[in-house]
Amino acid sequence: MWLADANYVGAVVNAGGMGFITPRSFPSVEEYRNQLRKCREITAGKPFGVNIYVSARPEANEALAVFLDIAIEENVEFVETAGFSPKAFMPRIKEAGMTVIHKCTTLRHAQSAVKAGVDAITILGAEAGGHPGMDMVGGIVQGAVVPEGLDVPVVLAGGLGTGRQLLAALALGADGILLGSRMTVAEEIWADDKYKKRITEIGQNDTRIVMSIFNDNSRVLDNATAQAVNELEEQGITDFEQYRPLVQGPSQREAYESGNFDLGTLSMGQSCAFANEISTVENIFDDIIRDAIAARDRLKGLGV
Ligand SMILES: Cc1cc2nc3c(=O)[nH]c(=O)nc-3n(C[C@H](O)[C@H](O)[C@H](O)COP(=O)(O)O)c2cc1C
Repeated sequence: MWLADANYVGAVVNAGGMGFITPRSFPSVEEYRNQLRKCREITAGKPFGVNIYVSARPEANEALAVFLDIAIEENVEFVETAGFSPKAFMPRIKEAGMTVIHKCTTLRHAQSAVKAGVDAITILGAEAGGHPGMDMVGGIVQGAVVPEGLDVPVVLAGGLGTGRQLLAALALGADGILLGSRMTVAEEIWADDKYKKRITEIGQNDTRIVMSIFNDNSRVLDNATAQAVNELEEQGITDFEQYRPLVQGPSQREAYESGNFDLGTLSMGQSCAFANEISTVENIFDDIIRDAIAARDRLKGLGV
């Protein structure tokens, strides 16, 4: 959210990954469409995707059909659905011939998404930035359990940011990995360098779970705003209006724009531990691949 624009997603795709533009990041649907067109130019015909986050609040989902239609009109090849069930959108997505990867947090949800027709699953561990779900099962367990229970490709996510973890994910049975927090320090991300520098300085203990009181765990950067949210939760306050000024999207955007990382609840996972320098997407991927090769050689040395 806010960060996955054409420049960033284009860089991810050109470096050999798959990236998803987040439609809500832009002030209008016209600007969203412009970003898709710009991404098409940057990637010179290589496939890319959009992220469709299905909210628990139906009124928040009204825009999704429009976002999807625009992606279809612009011939976008991939969709990452996340949050609640993508079932309602599946006929439209499949009719358009798109490939859909549903991101979820439990095997049960993954199985029902597969039944609804998704092509692949991303399974999140509790370490993940953003919405790690309410069960909070760690990635090392998710990665071993979920591929066993599904007959579609599985991508593991949450807490990942190194090549040795990539190798571990493949060994567990996953077919790939998804990186969120690790990528926030990419040069191609438009956020102010003060924000990115902060991410390079923090470690695995510097995130916080907020919004549990609404059954909507959110792992965010441990900043003044997240602490204020936790204080409201500790008081047992369940009136969302009191949380709104702290958790609303525009504060997040302002934080990224100004570099004031105490503003807003900013999605961040434990893999910030691996985001140690501001670097291009391509360099980040190269580092991960080098680390994976070193890990593979280490395993060979162990006779594995
Ligand atoms: C800054 C930031 C913004 C995110 N925004 C979204 C979003 O808009 N939609 C979504 O489905 N996931 C979002 N996520 C979650 C990621 O797509 C991914 O599931 C998560 O980052 C994986 O865990 P990791 O952070 O440990 O890599 C966001 C994550 C971060 C760090």
